[in-house]
Amino acid sequence: KRLVVLVSGSGTNLQAILDAIAETSVAAYGAEVVAVGADRDGIEGLARAERAGLPTFVCQVKDYESRQAWDTALTEAVGAYEPDLVVSAGFMKIVGKEFLARFGGRFINTHPALLPSFPGAHGVRDALAYGAKVTGCTVHFVDDGVDTGPIIAQGVVEVRDEDDESALHERIKEVERRLLVEVVGRIARNGYRIEGRKVVIQ
Ligand code: GRF
Repeated sequence: KRLVVLVSGSGTNLQAILDAIAETSVAAYGAEVVAVGADRDGIEGLARAERAGLPTFVCQVKDYESRQAWDTALTEAVGAYEPDLVVSAGFMKIVGKEFLARFGGRFINTHPALLPSFPGAHGVRDALAYGAKVTGCTVHFVDDGVDTGPIIAQGVVEVRDEDDESALHERIKEVERRLLVEVVGRIARNGYRIEGRKVVIQ
């Protein structure tokens, strides 16, 4: 299976997928990353892709005359690689109707909170501020909402009294990277069905 991964930051989730494939093989893992895209330039996630010898692309909202034009450009940039699955690994933009029309049902996102709790761009900060005792991460299919698509897998992380946002986020990312690698591999190898809000991996 062909994966395109979308990033906006450090790309440690991307790196975890690249390492898992390198440590086994494309055949054993069931997928290969064919390209990495971002919504901004100069991020570590793109550097990781370049170090892995992968094609990269950047679609910045400010370079387009409208959000819809950006969505079209992103759809075409991703589509050029003919992915079977698109993985948002810390991609911090909400995609539009055209992207979902093309990749909906095979577009996976990872979120650093236990959805439906704490959706949006500050899930770690919000859980901490709320005083949650456990939080975690959620791997889900993207639908037309924000972090509202069918859940594939979740991992739980204890919140510690001494946690600040970055310490908690780092601990969540340790769980998140393993969960994402495991889920993407299983989906790529076994196939899946989405039945309403339920995801069944064969
Ligand atoms: C991940 O925790 C992701 O859930 C969140 O941002 C983080 C991205 O980390 N949206 P990285 O860029 O994969 O290191």
